[in-house]
Amino acid sequence: MKIGILTSGGDCPGLNAVIRAAVITGDKLFEDEFIGYRDGWRGVIEDDWMTLPRRRVRGIGRIGGTILGTSRSNPFADGEDGAEIVRRHMDEQDVDALLAIGGDGTLSTAHRLSEAGIPVVGVPKTVDNDLDATDYTFGFNTAVEIATEALDRLRMTGDSHHRCMVAEVMGRSVGWIALHSGMAAGAHVICLPEFPLSLDELCGHVQSAYDRGRAPLVVVAEGYVPRDAPEGFMDYDLDEFGRPRFGGIAEVLAPLIEERLGIESRATVLGHIQRGGEPTGYDRVLSTRLGTSAVDLVHSGGFGRMVALRGTEIVDVPLSEAIDSVKRVPEPRWREARTLFG
Ligand code: F6P
Repeated sequence: MKIGILTSGGDCPGLNAVIRAAVITGDKLFEDEFIGYRDGWRGVIEDDWMTLPRRRVRGIGRIGGTILGTSRSNPFADGEDGAEIVRRHMDEQDVDALLAIGGDGTLSTAHRLSEAGIPVVGVPKTVDNDLDATDYTFGFNTAVEIATEALDRLRMTGDSHHRCMVAEVMGRSVGWIALHSGMAAGAHVICLPEFPLSLDELCGHVQSAYDRGRAPLVVVAEGYVPRDAPEGFMDYDLDEFGRPRFGGIAEVLAPLIEERLGIESRATVLGHIQRGGEPTGYDRVLSTRLGTSAVDLVHSGGFGRMVALRGTEIVDVPLSEAIDSVKRVPEPRWREARTLFG
């Protein structure tokens, strides 16, 4: 078979490990041929690709980013008939199937293409860990490790200056990175979009940590907005899929905390540092297993489906399950974390 691979949406540590595993598996078990589309769906739409022989993926499993490049292009943007263009370009290159590695935006596109008859298999990817049909996504573990290390560093400088340090981490409308890194670093408050604390509650926890002689560490998920915030408290631009482009809540909260409590406060936005760099061992293994299983899925004709982690097993599920709903932090996890605040 000839399989076209693409990586789409925000990059994520582990993408290269998926590509490597897919190419080696296809080459060894099925004598497949691979091409890699450049920059996600843009490459498919513009017929821009590179050959992916086995030697091209040598040693890439431990490298961050994606050798194929990525973008947030959407083949159905501006009323385009994306499926028609994709089908035509696949036919021209004799591509039998697509392997789309991406998050909710990418997998929604893959689902739509599959409904239109395009043979596509999905591989879930996001540092945010917000895809419902899989227990964990690769990249999340790496992001948590990076954020935890940064939080440990912020604690040290905060302690020296007796300051409140407010650190913003990624996650869009879910707080998985905030919850895990905040808990790992022993943060005094973790602000999640799923369970928004009011400003009073947040300041209460900061004050109580300060009163115990601690330099309060606040971890904020980028999509958090205080429960009692007025309309328009945060105003975000939208991306190509119509979703808010987050960033900056820590810089709004730190001066508010300082103003209300008189505790000197500083904001740090970790941003794309959480996505860059090498994947952890855990993410390399997960990515490799998903890449291998995705090629098996192509060969068993599992189009319109994606590989997923359930417990410790790799399974496959309909793409529709991945895009049906967002995986939010459940209430028991919040309760567990909240007990330690202040
Ligand atoms: O979805 C992954 C993610 O890293 C989010 O956590 C973040 O809001 C967004 O992508 C950033 O997107 P961009 O790379 O387009 O700035």
